[in-house]
Amino acid sequence: MASIIDGKAFAQGLREQIATEVSELKANHGLTPGLAVVLVGEDPASQVYVRNKAKQTEEVGMNSYEHRLDANTSREDLMALVNQLNNDDRVNGILVQLPLPTHLDDKEVINAINVEKDVDGFHILNVGRLSIGENSLVPCTPSGCIMMLKDQLGDLSGLNAVVVGRSNIVGKPMVQLLLNENCTVTVAHSRTKNLPDVCRGADILVAAVGRAEMIKGDWVKPGATVIDVGINRITTDEGKNKLVGDVEFATAEPVSGAITPVPGGVGPMTIACLLNNTLIAAKRQNNIS
Ligand code: GUN
Repeated sequence: MASIIDGKAFAQGLREQIATEVSELKANHGLTPGLAVVLVGEDPASQVYVRNKAKQTEEVGMNSYEHRLDANTSREDLMALVNQLNNDDRVNGILVQLPLPTHLDDKEVINAINVEKDVDGFHILNVGRLSIGENSLVPCTPSGCIMMLKDQLGDLSGLNAVVVGRSNIVGKPMVQLLLNENCTVTVAHSRTKNLPDVCRGADILVAAVGRAEMIKGDWVKPGATVIDVGINRITTDEGKNKLVGDVEFATAEPVSGAITPVPGGVGPMTIACLLNNTLIAAKRQNNIS
């Protein structure tokens, strides 16, 4: 039987630590970190995310600035808002909710954010800094995964890590973080040959492919730590809606040493790490160590 990694409790603990640091920043430096979130259009999933972000930002004592723009917002208007937030000292972190409507260019907008305020860690300079092991703002989901791995396993040096998925948001930064922890890292993806065999070599298996229950229990090395980043909505045989990961939990859980469930694993860590990045950004911008 695996131990189930409780991401909800872990995220709660992280938010409490952040709240303590925020109150110290206020008391000792008169500084209240601020996070600006920009949402263009009315995508329902994005609206839920943005609402949760705002609520949790305020719960840890930070200021939340929400900018909701019409789906038809022009490139010029959006760039002007980003520029305004870049120049606003109350704003330490800026997050532009993706995906943007198709007439807007995600990359152009992300790279217009002041790199020191890019709390998503998506700016090309933060990506480069992470890849050479320099101080950067690190994408939130992989950041949460590495925290849970270190909490579970301690030193990760020399462990075989397999990351399934090569997205810019999760797979690639995950690889960089595992390399920084001295893991031996394999990146697998949809064209990988003998994927089950590759997975069976993993002491740490990170699944970030976005395919419901693709990774089966007999792909998991006995005792391995399994981090499931997938959030897939499926309809069960009984016609019910259900959230499942990229790992088939029922078969993987008995084999693995530790595993994150879906929901309640990686998911709750993402916003907590966003708040952590906002705290880090606020301290760096004000030369507070
Ligand atoms: N859309 C879904 N997740 C995210 C995220 O973490 N950051 C941004 N900017 N957009 C998202």
